[in-house]
Amino acid sequence: MRDGLLLGGTLLVLIAVVIWDFRSSPDLSDPESLRKVYTSDPSDWPEPTVEDSIQWKALGALPDSPYRNVDSLESLTTLGKKLFFDPRLSSSNQISCSSCHDPARGWSNARPTAVGHDHQTGKRNVPSLLNIWAMDPLFWDGREDSLAAQYIHAVSDSIEMNQDPDALPGKLAAIPGYNALFARAFADSSVTLGRIGRALAQFQRTIVSRESDFDRFVQGEEQALSDEALRGLHLFRTKARCMNCHHGRRFTDQKFHNLGLHYYGRKREDLGRYNVTGDPDDMGKFRTPSLRDVAYTGPWFHNGLVNDLEHAINMYEHGMARPEPRPGMEDDPHYPVTSPLLKELDLTRAETDALVAFLHSISERPRRVRRPELPQ
Ligand code: HEC
Ligand code: HEC
Repeated sequence: MRDGLLLGGTLLVLIAVVIWDFRSSPDLSDPESLRKVYTSDPSDWPEPTVEDSIQWKALGALPDSPYRNVDSLESLTTLGKKLFFDPRLSSSNQISCSSCHDPARGWSNARPTAVGHDHQTGKRNVPSLLNIWAMDPLFWDGREDSLAAQYIHAVSDSIEMNQDPDALPGKLAAIPGYNALFARAFADSSVTLGRIGRALAQFQRTIVSRESDFDRFVQGEEQALSDEALRGLHLFRTKARCMNCHHGRRFTDQKFHNLGLHYYGRKREDLGRYNVTGDPDDMGKFRTPSLRDVAYTGPWFHNGLVNDLEHAINMYEHGMARPEPRPGMEDDPHYPVTSPLLKELDLTRAETDALVAFLHSISERPRRVRRPELPQ
């Protein structure tokens, strides 16, 4: 009798716990419950699936660039835009910044890697310049901090613009139309490398994404995301583990990780961050790119390896690239180790599609930009 009561009591408690649990954590496989959970403030969304060490930031609507629509910066922006589109910044007078960072191609070039001076191809993919005002450090390997100084790399690189930077101010000063533009933007008309850099940087800081479906959704337009994209958002934050690195309003931690795409010891080797720091820990690491407008900035990854987003997800699904040391290299203490933040994901076909739909929902076709008339 006593045993019977005990058993009955235990059962009741168990049932109560199950019911309670069911009520407190809604069944998120149901699109409606998922929408309910995600129409709350992003700070109340379900905990993301990240390692304890990760200081993740909430996703959210994209903040505007503080450099846009500022009256006092208008003449500097105008000058910077002309410089950006002007092929006379290159030695051949044929290659401008916009040859590689083409506004119609997501401010990239729609090719795996860069094509520059004399049709030479570089080994890295051209990053989009959208929202570059908030990116720090610059380049796939983070070798530059200053946007105003960055352009010198492109100008002087023998396979990009191949222009002697020291000769550039004189070359531009000899174009009469530039004198007035420099005089308007600065105190006088003198052309210096520093001034060219400040103008180019200011123009680039006005290059921003347009509002995406995701932005509209987090700002309260509840139907702005399809069921599939919403499922993708949830997966991105949980099962697919993307938030370990792609978090915050621009979907990047701005840190460096090794995804196994370094080709260590092979012809296409690129050791990324290691080439900047010399720290063996940095072998094969690259900066996490922003995923804003990612659907318009392919091909993807630092070497342009992938040209469809489903393929990118399939690579993550396998825990990304995990190259094995070649014979003779097994004992190499510096053999780059793929980030332990990446794990096999076991995604279904529908889940992969949902993640791709989500990546489209954070992408909006970049604004059309009219090429400026160049000073003569
Ligand atoms: C020949 C193609 C080419 C030209 C021309 C070119 N770039 Fe780039 N740009 C690249 C590539 C490739 C990278 C990435 C290189 C790397 O990470 O090592 C890059 C990187 C950048 C970055 C850093 C982006 C980021 O996400 O960190 C900025 C900013 C930039 N370029 C601005 C310019 C400006 C301004 C000009 C003109 C003065 C210019 N580029 C000309 C190919 C080009
Ligand atoms: C360990 C950190 C990390 C995780 C986790 C991670 N990424 Fe990445 N992601 C990166 C880095 C770093 C790169 C650039 C690597 C390179 O080019 O070598 C990248 C590149 C990408 C690119 C290419 C973007 C471009 O502009 O070339 C896409 C798309 C992408 N990630 C999506 C995702 C998705 C979706 C997930 C979740 C399934 C995810 N990432 C998980 C760090 C991460």
